[in-house]
Amino acid sequence: MKKMTSDELRESYLKFFESKGHKIIPSASLIPENDPSVLFTTAGMHPLVPYLLGQKHPAGKRLCDVQKCVRTGDIDEVGDATHLTFFEMLGNWSLGDYFKEESIGFSYEFLTKVLEIPVEKIAVTVFAGDEDCPRDTFAASVWEKMGIAKDRIFYLPKKNNWWYAGPTGPCGSDTEIFIDTGKEPCGPDCSPADDCGKWGEIWNNVFMEFNRTADGKFEPLKQKNVDTGMGLERTVCMINGLSSAYETDLFADAIAKICELSGKKYGEDEQVTRAIRIIADHIRTATFMIGDERGVVPSNVDQGYVLRRLIRRAVRFARQIDCDPSKLTDIARIYIEKYRKIYPELGVNADKIVDEIAKEEERFSKTLENGLKEIEKVLKYVQGDMLNGKTAFRLYDTYGFPIEMTVEICREKGFGVDMDGYRKAFEEHQQKSHAGAEQKFKGGLADTSEMTTYLHTATHLLLGTLKKVLGRDDIQQKGSNITPERLRFDFNFERPLTEEEKKAVEDGVNDAIRRDIPVTCEEMTVEEARRQNAVGVFGSRYGEIVKVYTIGDVDKEICGGPHAEHTGQLGEFKIVKEQSSSAGVRRIKAVIDPSKAKK
Ligand code: SER
Repeated sequence: MKKMTSDELRESYLKFFESKGHKIIPSASLIPENDPSVLFTTAGMHPLVPYLLGQKHPAGKRLCDVQKCVRTGDIDEVGDATHLTFFEMLGNWSLGDYFKEESIGFSYEFLTKVLEIPVEKIAVTVFAGDEDCPRDTFAASVWEKMGIAKDRIFYLPKKNNWWYAGPTGPCGSDTEIFIDTGKEPCGPDCSPADDCGKWGEIWNNVFMEFNRTADGKFEPLKQKNVDTGMGLERTVCMINGLSSAYETDLFADAIAKICELSGKKYGEDEQVTRAIRIIADHIRTATFMIGDERGVVPSNVDQGYVLRRLIRRAVRFARQIDCDPSKLTDIARIYIEKYRKIYPELGVNADKIVDEIAKEEERFSKTLENGLKEIEKVLKYVQGDMLNGKTAFRLYDTYGFPIEMTVEICREKGFGVDMDGYRKAFEEHQQKSHAGAEQKFKGGLADTSEMTTYLHTATHLLLGTLKKVLGRDDIQQKGSNITPERLRFDFNFERPLTEEEKKAVEDGVNDAIRRDIPVTCEEMTVEEARRQNAVGVFGSRYGEIVKVYTIGDVDKEICGGPHAEHTGQLGEFKIVKEQSSSAGVRRIKAVIDPSKAKK
């Protein structure tokens, strides 16, 4: 394999595709221009949607670029070796020009000739086929012809080998490319689908030939497109034989600075390393968000709120490792210097970046200490193991603690947060302050997209089913978090679920989906809800009248909503992870696939 720096990889990628007739186009802004459904540009194809749908692109039919991307769905996973909130995506596109054969040919040539990756280190996945689109034996045969051994070509279902940017829009089956990390296989049938660390995904070639409509149908597009995306950070990491993107040249100077400021060493202690990574990641993302050509500043709504969360979280972790938070701007300056050649807007906006990070740090540092003391104090008096929503709201309102941070701090101390109560307090406050109907509060709170609405309903089905499968009526929600990608549900239970139990829970939820049960909502007094055995946290904070959502015989809960109208809309439910959350609390992460909904 050819060792390369990030600059060298960007350059050789663009040069290679230029030599294959592609025009290099500049990275689009991180803030999508005409798409109110998402806060940030999440993939290289995102700004190209109109052209994938058939509009003519001024630069032609073959394009390539390096696109700035932000994905914050997994923000609380940042700190491990792999998660990042900002990344760069190398991409090449055919807009109704070449299709599978050439696309696979280009990828193979780039990987084996330019990056000099030995063919035996490559594995690929292709689409296994279903009622929407046939099995991709063609892509497999092209890979084979190139020299990929048969046992390195894996057929996987839609869950793995289909790409969509959102619930509607251009999409299609894909072929994904993985590199052997050298780790032992997880079993005799080890495949990239296992996610066991043996195979590192670096490239995704999507054969975009469908448009998914609002009613879940796959209509053929006017033209067959190719959309590929290669993660720059991952690829630099992989070709240099490193185990984490944080070890690449992209982070080297910033991490050295954090170590210098804190007097700590990267890699020596797990907690310290986690904090260093969080600071390095969050300040890099903040630098790009503020420095963007359509740059944002910290605020309480939309992109500004995500930015605020990132900076405040960086401040908290900086303090944890004795890194002076007022010096976080030094780290931002390092990123500005590192990236300004590729992204000149960072140089142009350098003062603004430093200034906004400094102001936000000051605003937050002033109240942080008092807020932390306040959390300690209230947790001492909490009855049970759940912080009430009003207090969580007060921490937000008075001390500027983003709710996610309160949840994180409480979790570290073994407590959950009553999110419904928090939402209620937040809404009451908004109504009082006449904030206006268009005031949104995204980032997992009042995000009412179709996906989050359905995941909310899935969460209710999950709770009802867990009780039934585990035969325990005392199982309760201990925490819940929903992003457009997945649900996360914490509940009281003392041991890991067995494989059989997990399967039974999955089957139970899917059974409820198949039965297409209507989701009904009634308003009633707290007393009446209690009488009807609705679950949920009872207390005056709900006020006199509450909403009770009922899903047939599966679940009845006090909840603010919104929900799916009937369970069939969820399509299919799948548990992706079951793990410990804190003592006596388990955590399930699950996904749904509304595209599977029966029409
Ligand atoms: N859109 C696909 C992805 O993001 C390929 O570019 O993976």
